[in-house]
Amino acid sequence: MKIAVVGATGLVGSKMLQVLDEQKVHIDELIMAASERSVGKEITFQGKTHKVVSVDDAIAARPDIAIFSAGASASRQYAPRFAKTGTFVVDNSSAWRMGKDVPLVVPEINADTITNDTRIIANPNCSTIQMVMALAPIHKAFGIKRLVVATYQSVSGSGMKGIGQLDYEEGRIQCVPTTLAYPHQIYRNVLPHAGDFTDNGYTTEEEKLVNETRKILRDPSIAITATAARVPVTGGHSEAVNVETLQPFEIEEVRHLLEATPGVVVQDDPLQNLYPMARTAYDKDEVFVGRLRRDYSVANGLNLWVVSDNIRKGAATNAVQIAKYLIDTIL
Ligand code: A2P
Repeated sequence: MKIAVVGATGLVGSKMLQVLDEQKVHIDELIMAASERSVGKEITFQGKTHKVVSVDDAIAARPDIAIFSAGASASRQYAPRFAKTGTFVVDNSSAWRMGKDVPLVVPEINADTITNDTRIIANPNCSTIQMVMALAPIHKAFGIKRLVVATYQSVSGSGMKGIGQLDYEEGRIQCVPTTLAYPHQIYRNVLPHAGDFTDNGYTTEEEKLVNETRKILRDPSIAITATAARVPVTGGHSEAVNVETLQPFEIEEVRHLLEATPGVVVQDDPLQNLYPMARTAYDKDEVFVGRLRRDYSVANGLNLWVVSDNIRKGAATNAVQIAKYLIDTIL
């Protein structure tokens, strides 16, 4: 089993290496690739030192699987070249997610969309992954008619640049970052702005929540609207999710469903101040759901608070789970 990690020097890439190790994925040869400026750098994995290579060299090595987290333009440029030589690409960027023939996969929900002929598999956006983990069982049981979502996204969602800006503004580091991730101070602030603004006034993060959720849940009829905000939290995205279902439900039924869902942990005892938080979700693989309560303003309304570590289940862990699925069922 030959596995390449493209973007191995980045925030998500290095978490991918950590998760590959934790999950004891069987690897005979590991190839670490990044941009030309990192070629020759050394990274230690399972006690062995590896030299970072160029993406061209990684393609020439013909790995079985290439896990990408190097940004959308690198994915657009290189993923088809890997695919052409037979490599399965698991891509963490937004480049291929909405492609008609590209499976957009959260393994607990729709791994069956991967076939023997698939070569590029997209890892969904971090905010989408944690939300659909909580919503998939609800959709299956009661049908979802409409979703109103507000996200509170941490700065690690913007990579090293986001963490660098918050650390600098907090006074934790002295050297001025060469590029800032946000157009305003993020420390002691909340920006109603995650991703880039599009012509219709929404941001790319908000559009991803709408389009990717419909694709993963295989239901283009779900009405979805979202507001994505950036908050001064280092890691862990939080989401207020308002759900309107087609069928009536009891809150206790929803609680039992979520408690029985692998990968989801219910933390919901408000009188004991127990609810999901970014701090407690940090460095965990699960999606945490709480503040379960009926929305009395509509017939079948439900409110949820959903939190997960955006670098783990929102990115690295989900990608490694897809790689494991490929190893176990396709390769
Ligand atoms: P490098 O470290 O050489 O710049 P992050 O999102 O944390 O900044 O990480 C981005 C990752 O993607 C890094 O490993 C970075 O490598 C890599 N990367 C960025 N652009 C390219 C590119 N054009 N080709 C290959 N790797 C790239």
